[in-house]
Amino acid sequence: MFVPKKTTISLIKCDVGSLAGHHIVPKPLFDIAEKNMKNAAETGLINSYYVFNAGDDLELLMVHEKGEHNHMIHELAWNTFKEAADKALELKLYGAGQDILKTAFSGNVCGMGPGVAEMEIEERGADPIVVFAADKTSAGSFNYPLFRVFADPMNTAGLVIDPNMLCGFKFDVVDTVENKAITLKCPEETYELLALIGTVGRYVISRVRRASDDLICASSSVSKLSLIAGKYVGKDDPVMIARAQHGLPAVGEVLAPFMHTYFVMGWMRGSHWGPLMPVGLNASKCTVFDGPPRIVALGFQVADGGIASDEGKPLIADLFDDPAFDLARQEAVREGATLRRMGEFEPARLGPEEMEYTTIQQVLHKLAKRFTTVTSDD
Ligand code: F6R
Ligand code: MG
Ligand code: MG
Repeated sequence: MFVPKKTTISLIKCDVGSLAGHHIVPKPLFDIAEKNMKNAAETGLINSYYVFNAGDDLELLMVHEKGEHNHMIHELAWNTFKEAADKALELKLYGAGQDILKTAFSGNVCGMGPGVAEMEIEERGADPIVVFAADKTSAGSFNYPLFRVFADPMNTAGLVIDPNMLCGFKFDVVDTVENKAITLKCPEETYELLALIGTVGRYVISRVRRASDDLICASSSVSKLSLIAGKYVGKDDPVMIARAQHGLPAVGEVLAPFMHTYFVMGWMRGSHWGPLMPVGLNASKCTVFDGPPRIVALGFQVADGGIASDEGKPLIADLFDDPAFDLARQEAVREGATLRRMGEFEPARLGPEEMEYTTIQQVLHKLAKRFTTVTSDD
């Protein structure tokens, strides 16, 4: 029986410590990641890799043939993050080992702190991939662009014009509070889908598949560290993989939602709304009020189980490094300033349900005994 060869794209990230607060991943940590990835490529565990950062998050992009949730791939990522965290501790970098919630590896990094997006594909003739990584935000931040790309004909012309997309797309949605999942099909269940995914702090799109043949098109991380730990620890800064072209949204349609900024949860102390700013790798760093939240997008072609490369170097396109996203960047600065002028007043600050998982709980606890009952005579 013919068994088609499959290629897996794994994007695993972790905040292991950063330079000057929660700003950027410094070179010594990149060097550790590069060294470990290079070794893994030489031993044949992975076929290609690319190390980059989204603000203070170290991002490991690995392309291999071991499948999703593979313990060797996850262990490689875990050991790399642990080694980088040790280095961060030695250098007294800020938040050393921040997202490493467990001490011992148990076969899979999911639920241990790092964020994971993976996608196993059967390579098409040419398979363009876009990976996204965001900082100072949280799982659920990709609900909006995923909806625009795969369900909104005002964004994606292909939904109307390309006969291969008329069938629509299926969305797997995770309820991160109840730990349940549901699949909804668009366009038929568009309103039901929106009813859920508009609540970005709870419902998170984990996967998108083409309805006609279940072809996997997008995969994003869903972990909420605060729900794992029950308190404010680490950051969920999410990652996502999208597949494009030839019966799927074009790369340009995948990027179109980012022509404008939109608001995401997770700015300063994981407690504020902020405008998401698309940036090239050169501006992948968080500054003002620890932000604004930023997102990078890298494009590449999958080729023979790896990333199409030139003389051993992966060919990577830094997609937001483009004046076409200047408008979104300007909007992010302007709208961010409007929110910041409001200081600690909602809606600049998150609502009470989300604040439950932040350090404000300690303040409320301290004040608890000083509250008195209000009677009608007061
Ligand atoms: C970290 C983050 C930051 C921190 C803030 C306070 O990813 O979002 O905004 O929450 O800088 O950090 P600490 O409490 O470590 O001083
Ligand atoms: Mg940090
Ligand atoms: Mg981060």
